[in-house]
Amino acid sequence: MVQIVKTISEVRDTVKAWKKAGYQVGFVPTMGYLHEGHQSLMSAAKAENHKVVVSIFVNPMQFGPNEDLASYPRDIDKDQQLCQQAGVDLIFHPDAGEIYAEDFCSFVDMTGLTEELCGRSRPAHFRGVCTVVSKLFNIVQPDKAYFGQKDAQQLAVIRRMVRDLNIDVQVIGCPIVREADGLAKSSRNSYLNAEQRQAALCLSQAISLGQQLVQRGERNCQKITSSMQSIITQQPLARVDYITIVDAETLSPIEQIHQSILCAIAVYIGNTRLIDNFIVDIH
Ligand code: PAJ
Repeated sequence: MVQIVKTISEVRDTVKAWKKAGYQVGFVPTMGYLHEGHQSLMSAAKAENHKVVVSIFVNPMQFGPNEDLASYPRDIDKDQQLCQQAGVDLIFHPDAGEIYAEDFCSFVDMTGLTEELCGRSRPAHFRGVCTVVSKLFNIVQPDKAYFGQKDAQQLAVIRRMVRDLNIDVQVIGCPIVREADGLAKSSRNSYLNAEQRQAALCLSQAISLGQQLVQRGERNCQKITSSMQSIITQQPLARVDYITIVDAETLSPIEQIHQSILCAIAVYIGNTRLIDNFIVDIH
């Protein structure tokens, strides 16, 4: 069975030995409760590197005071099996104390990109993500790191952090993996009861409508987002947090589509906040 280590020094020793042997190291950071979305990142990492490290760490710093840190789903035994099947070479599963000393006081913070979209309702979230991901990069020192398009803002933020801080890691984005009926896979889908699970389909339905409108030539963002909004408002269990079209790289809001865009939505189904998005590449 793939080895699980809990300390930074064990990761460092293993990776150092691999690098000495000339191996390329791929890295997939996760918060566990792994599903096919995570698996697709592991497969991509496996295909492009000699060795693959997966981290499983529910990072307290990226959760707001009223968010789901305590109830976030965890199942390390199942995660280990899944990593084994995916051919992962090492799992880093630290306790919070290994990552954050009691007197920890250094942060990686970003302006601009982190203030739109999810940053509006989760003001300290990306500070937590950037801080933990840069720490994990420093610990694992991978050649390539894999992130899902599912969290499109996170991917854009990590790309910018790596560029701005000259971090020597190649960031690879991987497509969204969905359930058969269209719902984007997420560890948080486990919070939904049967009725909410059905209601949650309004996210992917709104996303496909938006995509179709752009494909048919609609360029007015307001028109696209209001059509998408009407799908969500038809669903009584759903409440929109945001539906926005932004520049794919800078994440600044736009009115007309002339460039590559990210159309992203966040919707509450009951107390569960779900996200989905699509990207249109225009060159
Ligand atoms: P987590 O939500 O566990 O996601 C880990 C990685 O899996 C992220 O890059 C995410 O985008 C990707 N992922 C999740 N669902 C996916 C899906 N349906 N299709 C494709 N990729 C998917 O994102 C985090 O953890 C954390 O913020 C982390 C980066 C680990 C920092 O703590």
